[in-house]
Amino acid sequence: MTDHASRAPDTTTRPTRPTLSKLTDELGLLYGGDYNPEQWDRETWLEDARLMQAAGVNLVTVGVFSWALLEPRPGERSFGWLDEVLDLLHAHGIAVDLATPTASPPPWMGHLYPETLPVDRDGVRLTYGSRNQFSPSSEVYRGFARDITRDLVDRYVEHPAVRMWHVGNELGQVCHSDATALAFRTWLDERYGSLDGLNEAWGTTFWSQRYSRWEEVVPPRRAPYLINPTQELDFRSFTSDALRAVYREQRDIIRERDPRRPVTTNFMGFFPLVDYWSWAQDLDVVSDDAYPDPVDPTSLASAALTQDLMRSLGGGAPWLLMEQAVSAVNWRDHNVPKTPARMRLESLQAVAHGADGICFFQWRASRAGAERFHSAMLPHAGADTDVHRGVVGLGADLARLRPVVGGRSRATVAIAFDWSSWWAAEGEAGPTRRLRVVEEVRRWHRALWERGVAVDLVRPGDTLGEYDLVLAPNLYLLDEPDAANLRAFVAGGGTLVLGPFSDVATRDAHVRPGRFPVQLADLVGASGEEWLPLDDDGLDVVSDLWAGPDGVLPGIAHVDSYVERLRLDGGEGVDGSDGSHGTDGSGTPAEAVVVASSSAPAGLSGAPVVVRRRSGAGRAWYVGALLPDAALDAVLAEVLRESGTLSALGTPAARLGVEAVRRGDLLFLLNHTGSPVSVPVGSTPLTDLLTSAVHSGTAVVPPVDVLVLTERPS
Ligand code: GLA
Repeated sequence: MTDHASRAPDTTTRPTRPTLSKLTDELGLLYGGDYNPEQWDRETWLEDARLMQAAGVNLVTVGVFSWALLEPRPGERSFGWLDEVLDLLHAHGIAVDLATPTASPPPWMGHLYPETLPVDRDGVRLTYGSRNQFSPSSEVYRGFARDITRDLVDRYVEHPAVRMWHVGNELGQVCHSDATALAFRTWLDERYGSLDGLNEAWGTTFWSQRYSRWEEVVPPRRAPYLINPTQELDFRSFTSDALRAVYREQRDIIRERDPRRPVTTNFMGFFPLVDYWSWAQDLDVVSDDAYPDPVDPTSLASAALTQDLMRSLGGGAPWLLMEQAVSAVNWRDHNVPKTPARMRLESLQAVAHGADGICFFQWRASRAGAERFHSAMLPHAGADTDVHRGVVGLGADLARLRPVVGGRSRATVAIAFDWSSWWAAEGEAGPTRRLRVVEEVRRWHRALWERGVAVDLVRPGDTLGEYDLVLAPNLYLLDEPDAANLRAFVAGGGTLVLGPFSDVATRDAHVRPGRFPVQLADLVGASGEEWLPLDDDGLDVVSDLWAGPDGVLPGIAHVDSYVERLRLDGGEGVDGSDGSHGTDGSGTPAEAVVVASSSAPAGLSGAPVVVRRRSGAGRAWYVGALLPDAALDAVLAEVLRESGTLSALGTPAARLGVEAVRRGDLLFLLNHTGSPVSVPVGSTPLTDLLTSAVHSGTAVVPPVDVLVLTERPS
């Protein structure tokens, strides 16, 4: 059922949209960072431009935090310094991603117009002296933001250095002010059409919350006890939409004046306050800021997941790693630096997962202000440093990787992830706070990542026909059309694996009546009646699947926090060794097969915990527990085996010891460990684009190093 042709560039859906390719066809992979010249004198600008050139930098983001200089007093303009900077960069062959400076309004704005400042949930108005001090619903802020954007674009639209536009920075501000309340009511009115519709959706007969006038409706604010969950959920969506409106109105001003150059803004991975699926179509190029913690042993697996999300948000198109740290950040409690080798590895990992540009925060370390101790491409100690030599080295590596540009990856596996469902699943007052949705997505993704399996992220309602396997670690909210879509996917021969606490609630976060997963129980052949957060004794779960691996007792996995009381509906099928489990041989739906079951305590003894069932040409699994890592890994390994999923090496998916990723016709092998790893690569000689070394049979990847292999002779 895999149809790779359907992942060709989607020029049909976005015929006139500017893309990154105009830039990358000319410059190759993009390389650079945030550049804040307003912090430096002219001599330093000159030194910066020369050093950038020497390091292979070809793109810098300028002006992100320059509003107070560009507009020193309301309505005044001071562009002279920026003219000079852009001219200088252009003279050195460095392209500019020019930012609207709207992430940090000047102090005069908050001083003269306090209503532009955001108000938190407790009613406290946040102040200036930091950044992000704006309310997305303040018309005064938005008016000033539109004006400076218009003047900036009018001034620089013809400047040859400017090759891309960047709106604001990490849009993510939440506000609970009175102006926000007005905007929230308008949003709700559009959604529900009437106050009656809102009362129905919010279930306001509960606790006497019924609204009789729109003026009574407010954002969630500090209250004596739990807030209405649908009100919370709607406020999340509203906030995401309000921020999107801020982005879109600046984007529209740019687009009106410059339809040719791409517009972006920098995302923040699995950011909890913005539904990036809903934004993705508004960006010409998806960009992301990523700061994996070098001391977290799982951070590079998580980074790969985020990179897969970014590629998927753009429909598979190349994206930009807009910000990362060269070495240490300054905002954790204890900021362990990265080695240059690790910095290179992380950068090339992003390229492997679809990035066509690698940028940093920031070019030159700031001497003053809140980020003095954040690393930079040019550290306080200057160019004669290991950090800067690493930067120069990466520039040379990226130049060698020019053949990567525009390359796309192909996945037969997708992970379904939905922001609303995430928000609702982790809202207040549920069975457990120990189910962390993104953490579950990470654990499921990791099993694939370790086996070199390419993965896309999708929404449950997306077209799924190109995938063989869809994993849904948690879909607490499942709308009827989305459930129908998953059902059709299985009917079409796909395999669906559904995780715990899924298909429980409607889009309005009302619990669906019936045994869960309510709409899909018949698909998995089993259903549940009770969610069972466990006491300190936990629960042993037995399965043939996890006999032996580390951390799991032979045949027994210990679940320590959450399981579900499930039963098979309609009796148990036979688990054929040929993978014909749950089928009567004719391909018609058959009984579910218990893959894992509980061994204790009384009342749950023997109850199913993991089940699978053949349904027509497809299969459906249900995982009714938060399984420990090794047990979950064993389940997913079995799913991969059963579905015949291959690794990037073209071999049946198995642990490889390196990260293996295919992009276009290139094979990336990334060794995240401290020892060399040998990888079987077949007998055709492959050339490493980074070193020109030729490998065949077995390729040895040195520690913290990367090979980028091509069949094309060098
Ligand atoms: C984010 C911001 C930057 C900077 C870095 C520091 O990415 O966009 O302005 O503050 O964090 O890590």
